[in-house]
Amino acid sequence: MMLLRPVALPVLWLLLTATTTLFTQCTGDSTAAASPPTATVAAIGEPIRLLISGSMLGRLEPCGCASGQLGGLARRMQHIGERRSYDVLLEGGDLVDTATELDVLKFYTAVQVLTGMQHPYDALGVGPKDLELPLDEFSAFLAGAQVTAGDLESRREDWPARPFVEKDVRGQKVRITSFTLSLPAALQGDDSPVRLLPPKAAWQRALAGAADATLRILMLQGTDTTARNLVPTLSPPPDLVVCCDAGQLEPASQVEHIGKVPMVFAGIRGRVLLEASLLRTPDGSQVVVDLVPLAGSKTVPGGGGDPDVKALLLAHRDQVKQDRILEHMARKLPTPNGAAYVGSENCKTCHPTAYEAWTRTPHFRAWDTLVKAEADPTRYGWPVTHYPDCVGCHVVGYREETGFVSAEETPQLAGVGCERCHGPGSSHLQNPAGNKMGLHAGTPASVLCIQCHDFEQSPDFVYSDRWAKIQHGLEPK
Ligand code: HEC
Ligand code: HEC
Ligand code: HEC
Ligand code: HEC
Repeated sequence: MMLLRPVALPVLWLLLTATTTLFTQCTGDSTAAASPPTATVAAIGEPIRLLISGSMLGRLEPCGCASGQLGGLARRMQHIGERRSYDVLLEGGDLVDTATELDVLKFYTAVQVLTGMQHPYDALGVGPKDLELPLDEFSAFLAGAQVTAGDLESRREDWPARPFVEKDVRGQKVRITSFTLSLPAALQGDDSPVRLLPPKAAWQRALAGAADATLRILMLQGTDTTARNLVPTLSPPPDLVVCCDAGQLEPASQVEHIGKVPMVFAGIRGRVLLEASLLRTPDGSQVVVDLVPLAGSKTVPGGGGDPDVKALLLAHRDQVKQDRILEHMARKLPTPNGAAYVGSENCKTCHPTAYEAWTRTPHFRAWDTLVKAEADPTRYGWPVTHYPDCVGCHVVGYREETGFVSAEETPQLAGVGCERCHGPGSSHLQNPAGNKMGLHAGTPASVLCIQCHDFEQSPDFVYSDRWAKIQHGLEPK
């Protein structure tokens, strides 16, 4: 379902134009009545129509664990194709959220979709998380794309980001830059190939040679507070600030202001896109926004979305399986208590009641759910049991030493078993009283749950209600 209101914008701008016309007539009258025309009102042009998003954080597509999930690249590109009316497509940065082998492939796929297909983006910012990727891949994938990072400088010859990108929209120049504002630890040393410029200097560099009439758009990879401190130091002021604040889950339907400078939030995961109409008036810039919640796309028939993008996403899924990324990424991190995973069967003898209770919960069959989802072409139909994102939340100890590797190699760790919540049990098995279990890595129970039951998987998760459904404990004495 799309909540677009196609008439809202034109009507508003008509009103605005009408008001201005009246105003112009008034000054005209007063001219006739002797006093010279004061401030000449610049002709108000047509607003520039932008489509804004940011912080995709690796969500190429919603996982589909709950109904009504939003977002997805296939759905997004379909929307852009249907509207055909955007002047400028903006993506803030942080296309991925970590730097695993999977993220490298996701980054490649996302860049393909955003820059190499029917509707290439006009500006792609760079977030600090993007910079955690190997720079060779980062640079190679982005070569030739409209990438901007106004406050980054690099001595790499293949550095893909420019101080700004510019687009001519019906004679109106629009210049866009993006501030990354921080570097990952690996790029902070003196010998780092990437350097961060102070914002003021970066802004000067980004505006070099720009005419006064050029519209200035600044994308910021930082929090609301960072933006509020930084923007007043910039001169001339931006016409629009796009704040990519990962704490701001969705874009707001209200435009905020820093002084006179309008600021919007890009949201995260590309769930809800932001349409914005931007116009410079004699009083400063004006922005009108509208939200575009994207009914989630799926790589299944009838799931909605641009067919070419869906094909590309499916190719990505297949490659992940073919390259055995799931196995490569397994067992890379130490376990929190240094013990090894043993599997839930080993808990059964001493905790028969807890075990029985667990077998009646969906956690027990969480792996089978993936297997069924994989086999069902109306649900998924692609190799979800080989896709690390899906697997990670449906098994025990994925990525940790002695944890899940694959259904073939570690069947005892498939499903959300005891040790996913209680941590590896080998030492507890040998000496139950001496090696207490507690919860995985000492995480409080409510936090433990939302590692998997997050706002997308379980939109209305309340710990006490859900715990009641899986409740178990020590044997009655
Ligand atoms: C962040 C953790 C997480 C990720 C990632 C994840 N899941 Fe889930 N999944 C869950 C949780 C939690 C539930 C249970 C949601 C609920 O009912 O509250 C669930 C439920 C499901 C269900 C059952 C839903 C139903 O309608 O019966 C399916 C199927 C599923 N997930 C498949 C997948 C697939 C496929 C992927 C990868 C594309 C995936 N999951 C990724 C956590 C995750
Ligand atoms: C989805 C997470 C989860 C799974 C799976 C799980 N537990 Fe628990 N378990 C908990 C939580 C949360 C508590 C309550 C801890 C608390 O309140 O301090 C608990 C409590 C317990 C307790 C009582 C601890 C105490 O000090 O009172 C035992 C024993 C236990 N679990 C054993 C098991 C066994 C055995 C399995 C597998 C058969 C299992 N659990 C599966 C989350 C889980
Ligand atoms: C050899 C018997 C035995 C096995 C096997 C065993 N436990 Fe325990 N477990 C105990 C005993 C004994 C206690 C302490 C009970 C008490 O304090 O009354 C305990 C307590 C616990 C507790 C409560 C916190 C604590 O450590 O006191 C949890 C949680 C727990 N076990 C989880 C597990 C899990 C998960 C497994 C499987 C990996 C497992 N146990 C396997 C005997 C066992
Ligand atoms: C490792 C990821 C993970 C963790 C951690 C986790 N769950 Fe789940 N949970 C799942 C998955 C996956 C499903 C769906 C399994 C299926 O349907 O096959 C699920 C399903 C459930 C369900 C049934 C569906 C629903 O939402 O009513 C409940 C209840 C539940 N979990 C409670 C909890 C509680 C309480 C905690 C924390 C103590 C917790 N879970 C921690 C992954 C997790």
